[in-house]
Amino acid sequence: MTTIRNHDADEPARLRTAMVDELRGDPITSEAVADAMTAVPRHLFAPEVSLQEAYESNTAVPVKRDGDGLTLSSLSAPHLQATMLEQAAIRSGMNVLEIGSMGYNAALLQELVGPAGHVTSVDIDPDIVERARTGLTQAGYERVDVILADAEHGVPASAPYDRIIVTFDSPDIPPAWLKQLTGDGRLVVPLRMKGITRSIAFDRDGAGLISRSYRLCRFVPVQGQGAHDRRRLTLDTGVYLTVEDSDEAGFDVTALRQALHEPTSNAWPGAVFDMPDELELFLLTNSPRMALLHASQERIDGGLLTAATRLGVPALIAHDGSFAYRIKRASQDSDTGFECGVIAHGPSAADVAEQYGQLLLRWAENFRRRDAASIRYLPAQADTPPEPELGGVVRKRHGSIAVSWPPNSGTAGGTPA
Ligand SMILES: C[S@@+](CC[C@H](N)C(=O)[O-])C[C@H]1O[C@@H](n2cnc3c(N)ncnc32)[C@H](O)[C@@H]1O
Repeated sequence: MTTIRNHDADEPARLRTAMVDELRGDPITSEAVADAMTAVPRHLFAPEVSLQEAYESNTAVPVKRDGDGLTLSSLSAPHLQATMLEQAAIRSGMNVLEIGSMGYNAALLQELVGPAGHVTSVDIDPDIVERARTGLTQAGYERVDVILADAEHGVPASAPYDRIIVTFDSPDIPPAWLKQLTGDGRLVVPLRMKGITRSIAFDRDGAGLISRSYRLCRFVPVQGQGAHDRRRLTLDTGVYLTVEDSDEAGFDVTALRQALHEPTSNAWPGAVFDMPDELELFLLTNSPRMALLHASQERIDGGLLTAATRLGVPALIAHDGSFAYRIKRASQDSDTGFECGVIAHGPSAADVAEQYGQLLLRWAENFRRRDAASIRYLPAQADTPPEPELGGVVRKRHGSIAVSWPPNSGTAGGTPA
């Protein structure tokens, strides 16, 4: 009997150690984050799932959904939490604001800042605030302040913060977050650009922010004042473009709809296929005429568009509605075994395919590196950022994002930034 009880009592600690071991190296790179994740009993914040599920390193626990089944609140997956904690580089004694609560991540933050530091966590949903408070009390982290508020305005009462960590999908950076960050503070935010969200660690840079790292991620949507519907331009049943608000006026939807059904042009410019996420960032932020093109499986099976569009692919859109997008195929001439190609539709398909091909070559030859992009955010009240020589600007409601790419210094491919 005693043996069984001891076994059960040890189970959470064993699962925690196994979870941390799995995450070591990538994304956990510091002992501080490993220690915090080894210490905090995650299962106390996920009472609705089994012990094993609570400690699965890549699994989020959905907690609340809206009427359409869209998840509004979840306990984020340990892999993602560790990624953002490493990006935040939290030190003992810091004052930290977590935006979006559930309790567990706030407890990790409390472990990282230690007794001399302070953690405030804010959520817009009273049920989540209650739940976070209960979990934190049960796990022994009563010092965390959990606040009920719309984080669009930050939490001025405990500002300024050395670190602000946002844990929902954010279409923009509200001015309050910048205002409430210390002079050498860091903001880690899942920022959506052109339909794709990356967790970006930003440090201050003059009136704005400059990125230190970026990682692809997925989060629940922001609610409240900053809520923002993803803009979709439907081209046909099961075919649409995801666009920024500022793009919308520039696209001739009638011409795009016609171009979709016109004969295609195909090109293979000889560009290597590698690091699709980095290539996607380069393509999407390179021109205001780029948008993410999606097609349903049915339309792909029907032959209207290729499988490259199933999860969304950057498309270059010409003024006459012609558009081009990236495809790939196996190639013995490429060091990755694959090369990029282009398919284009519309009256000037050959021209737009040629332009797209040039972009693919430019990236492959000059910028093919991981983490090479530099992402600058400038609030709207500051001067508009100049278009970077290599890169582009994405306009948001509260400011602008300029993504630039320092060229490779050596040969193409593989060189770390
Ligand atoms: C992914 S969950 C938070 C996960 C949490 N950080 C953890 O420990 O895993 C995102 C939360 O953001 C909250 N949220 C969404 N919009 C908000 C807003 N404008 N202000 C504050 N909280 C918001 C949601 O209610 C939801 O609980």
